Amino acid sequence: MIYKIVITILGLLFLSAEGLELGHLKSRIIGGTIVPVGKYPFVVSLTNATGHHCGGAIIGENCVLTNGRCSLSARKNTTVVAGTNNLKLGGKVYQVYQTFQPPGYNNINYMYNIGVVKIVGKFTFDNTTMPIRLSTSDPPVGSSCTLPGWGLHSWPSTTMSTDLYEISLKRIPDLVCNRTSQKEFPLIYKFCTENNYKHAPCTGDLGGPLVCDNEVKGTVSTLKECGTGYPDTHEKVVHWRDWIESVCKIKHCPK
Ligand SMILES: *[C@@H]1O[C@H](CO)[C@@H](O)[C@H](O)[C@H]1NC(C)=O
Ligand SMILES: *[C@@H]1O[C@H](CO)[C@@H](O)[C@H](O)[C@H]1NC(C)=O
Ligand SMILES: *[C@@H]1O[C@H](CO)[C@@H](O)[C@H](O)[C@H]1NC(C)=O
Ligand SMILES: *[C@@H]1O[C@H](CO)[C@@H](O)[C@H](O)[C@H]1NC(C)=O
Repeated sequence: MIYKIVITILGLLFLSAEGLELGHLKSRIIGGTIVPVGKYPFVVSLTNATGHHCGGAIIGENCVLTNGRCSLSARKNTTVVAGTNNLKLGGKVYQVYQTFQPPGYNNINYMYNIGVVKIVGKFTFDNTTMPIRLSTSDPPVGSSCTLPGWGLHSWPSTTMSTDLYEISLKRIPDLVCNRTSQKEFPLIYKFCTENNYKHAPCTGDLGGPLVCDNEVKGTVSTLKECGTGYPDTHEKVVHWRDWIESVCKIKHCPK
């Protein structure tokens, strides 16, 4: 407990030192950079009356991949915003038709935390709205992937980003992840990425696509105190491919 508090205080000191030094910590996702228009045409926002709450990725003409927790919350008064990087400007809003989690999804320890949201009708595909390929393999330990997201710029905070940001995240070994923080979230069908204080996903980035080799290889699954050094977990999309494809009724992509 004391150990944890000390770590947290050190983390906060580190963050505020960096904030002071750079003077604009609040103007960016934790460590990210702003995304040029059209770079991630598959990225969508799950939005309700409160605003953006989860990320997702278009994987078919009416199908969005996200995590289980996000698809569950999308049952209630949520819309899918596609085709824009700026949540206050442009894009198209689609109504949610159905939401899915696999059998065994656990809303407490986030086992099997994968989800699908189907929209009413179909997405209009153009250069700002396009599907991404599903994962054909997990990223190797040590490799880097990219996460686009509208999540919080600092933590704790309640203000989601208006602009889409991106960060690069490196996969770390399961044993390192387990030792550091993930006892309460079993690492079953999950992999972890390094959280080095400077680059971190945060609330609002959950459910978003971890992109490597032009495939969605992970969906952001669990976070703990963003940007304070705890590794983050991602669901292994390749493990869930058959389930996703059967729910979405999409054909296997050529490998
Ligand atoms: C997308 O296409 C439109 C119309 O064809 C064009 O005006 C726009 O510049 C394109 N945007 C990107 C990001 O390529
Ligand atoms: C929007 O969704 C978030 C996340 O599920 C929830 O906390 C919030 O209460 C929702 N807002 C409304 C108005 O339903
Ligand atoms: C959804 O929105 C409708 C209309 O605004 C409202 O009556 C209903 O209570 C909302 N449901 C939830 C679960 O927030
Ligand atoms: C992580 O730790 C838990 C509990 O200590 C253990 O049951 C599990 O096998 C470990 N997983 C990995 C991948 O090391």
